[in-house]
Amino acid sequence: MTYIVNEKCINCRYTDCVEVCPVDCFYIGENTIVIHPDECIDCGVCEPECPAEAIQPDSDMDENLEYWLEINRKFSEIWPNATQKRPPLPDADSLNPAMGYEEDKTNDFSENPGPEE
Ligand code: SF4
Ligand code: F3S
Repeated sequence: MTYIVNEKCINCRYTDCVEVCPVDCFYIGENTIVIHPDECIDCGVCEPECPAEAIQPDSDMDENLEYWLEINRKFSEIWPNATQKRPPLPDADSLNPAMGYEEDKTNDFSENPGPEE
């Protein structure tokens, strides 16, 4: 069992989530973040912290979630660990699905790593 980050994080990347994770299992990309599924202890603390509502448990399992679980698994092995909050990306609020942005952001996903701490 794990939590995962889905496409709602893309181009927002608020990073409120990283500060509350007790096992530091977030890994940062250029425009999003992922959770390492084998390190996550399934505590659920991060889910309500995300202003974009991008974090969900894998018990929600549907096709979209399965896709994002694989993304989380793959890129958490490659990207740098993130434990400290950073400024959100510049257009975070205007691209936030929880604030009314309606387009699917899946294709905006960048495979590039984010900044090291
Ligand atoms: Fe970290 Fe808990 Fe969120 Fe897993 S569910 S990523 S352990 S805060
Ligand atoms: Fe992304 Fe939400 Fe964390 S937007 S960086 S999952 S707080």
